[in-house]
Amino acid sequence: MIFGRVKPLSAILATAEKKSLERSLGAFQLTMLGVGAVIGTGIFVLTAEAAQKAGPGMMVSFIIAGFVCAVAALCYAEMAAMVPVSGSAYTYSYAVMGELIAWMVGWALILEYAVAAGAVSVGWSGYVVGLIQNAFGVDIPVALVRGPYDGGLVNLPAMLIAGLVTWLLVIGTKESAAVNAVLVAIKVAALALFVALSVPVMNMDGFTPFAPLGFTGISAAAASIFFAYVGFDAVSTAAEETKNPQRNMPIGLIGSLAICTVFYILVAAGVIGTVGAQPVFGPAGEVLAPGSTALSDQCAALAAAGNEAVTCSKEALAWTLREIGWPQIGNLLGLAAGLALPSVILMMMFGQTRIFFVMSRDGLLPAMFSKIHPTYRTPHVITILTGIFVALFAAFFPVGILADISNSGTLFAFAAVSIAVMMLRRTDPSRVRPFRTPAVMITAPIAIAGCAYLFWSLGLETKLMFVVWAAIGLVVYFGYSRNRSHVGRGLLDVPEDDADIPPLPVPPLPGAPTPGGKDA
Ligand code: ALA
Repeated sequence: MIFGRVKPLSAILATAEKKSLERSLGAFQLTMLGVGAVIGTGIFVLTAEAAQKAGPGMMVSFIIAGFVCAVAALCYAEMAAMVPVSGSAYTYSYAVMGELIAWMVGWALILEYAVAAGAVSVGWSGYVVGLIQNAFGVDIPVALVRGPYDGGLVNLPAMLIAGLVTWLLVIGTKESAAVNAVLVAIKVAALALFVALSVPVMNMDGFTPFAPLGFTGISAAAASIFFAYVGFDAVSTAAEETKNPQRNMPIGLIGSLAICTVFYILVAAGVIGTVGAQPVFGPAGEVLAPGSTALSDQCAALAAAGNEAVTCSKEALAWTLREIGWPQIGNLLGLAAGLALPSVILMMMFGQTRIFFVMSRDGLLPAMFSKIHPTYRTPHVITILTGIFVALFAAFFPVGILADISNSGTLFAFAAVSIAVMMLRRTDPSRVRPFRTPAVMITAPIAIAGCAYLFWSLGLETKLMFVVWAAIGLVVYFGYSRNRSHVGRGLLDVPEDDADIPPLPVPPLPGAPTPGGKDA
């Protein structure tokens, strides 16, 4: 029953064959694709959250999260190269573990994509509000730029950017490699500048105590900072466009993750060594959770006493630069984040709409979800629906909570893909695999254990939220989707345009940001 209703791989691959792409990407392009897709709110904003959880030990957290991503990425790449169609982890699971698991993975991917888009919107808001306040001296009431857990009422800028990105997606904004390249350059230059200005003036006192909350704190920070690496699957999903994937895929995946890890560690060191990164404790010395009203109150008290801490900042890197005497560069970094982060939101929301689209085409979600706009040729109904939810998440929840919830879904999906890779090696050993995970019987179990460890290290509330979400998913599946499933009803035809929507792609808008190549 659990592994029933497998969607035959041959039916899925029949779709893929209809859209064979030119193999043009080499190791360098793949690495850059990965770096572009990965760098975002995680490093720009969540550094403060990680410091609150682990103190300077967050440097170890970055290494742990990067390692788990690397092994999961190697498994992901084998599936992506073998089943190069829309739907990513959902589609792979359908082909190997059947409909129920696929449904649960698709349901978890809603957390990965939609909630992550909300998190990045909140991160964007923090930087843009900081920029407006510091560069133009405009004081914006906290009530309007932070959610209720953060000492405000509603985060209007975060809602605004989510709405704007939704609109871009509805009118058919698609990939534009040139815009993407510029945004990658902006992000990398901003981080490089931060490192160049902060690392040389580091003071080693900032590094002690190194792990004020012990290894538990380091693990908790790793589970949150995992968000900073999400997006590397953009590399895996480019497998069918890669020259010599067996050689170039691992270089692209491990290379981009290694570059990001080195950057992240240097940035973390720059913060720790200049402004210190010890957690803020409550009045009675109690540990305060990021994204809690208690922390927000304590931060307000510290600010009133002129004692601000980086863990309280919504724009940690810009704040650090201002503190160490580079206010204009701090503003410039805020501008860079303001320009570059919307492309991450776009990529996440694009991914979400395509997952919904494929699930709807499989009959598991209402057919209305895959309705295509007559003029823009985009799945506008589901895009707008997704946009509404993203805007609501962004309006009312803090970035750290959203990132953690998103991580719970992503970790579940990555573990499922790692299991699927091993299963398929046994059940279908002779199928052509353009890329084979090295030492899969070691790599995949490590990936599964790593995902389980990070999932376990998330906060109790996040884990409970995931369980509730999964339970709702099961109710929807057995109450609605199971009876309407196309596979369940024996309809195995995969429509041609399943492989890549919109069916009649519109040309990119000049100057429009891009989904960054992340497949859905
Ligand atoms: N890795 C992406 C970010 O940090 C999701 O924003």
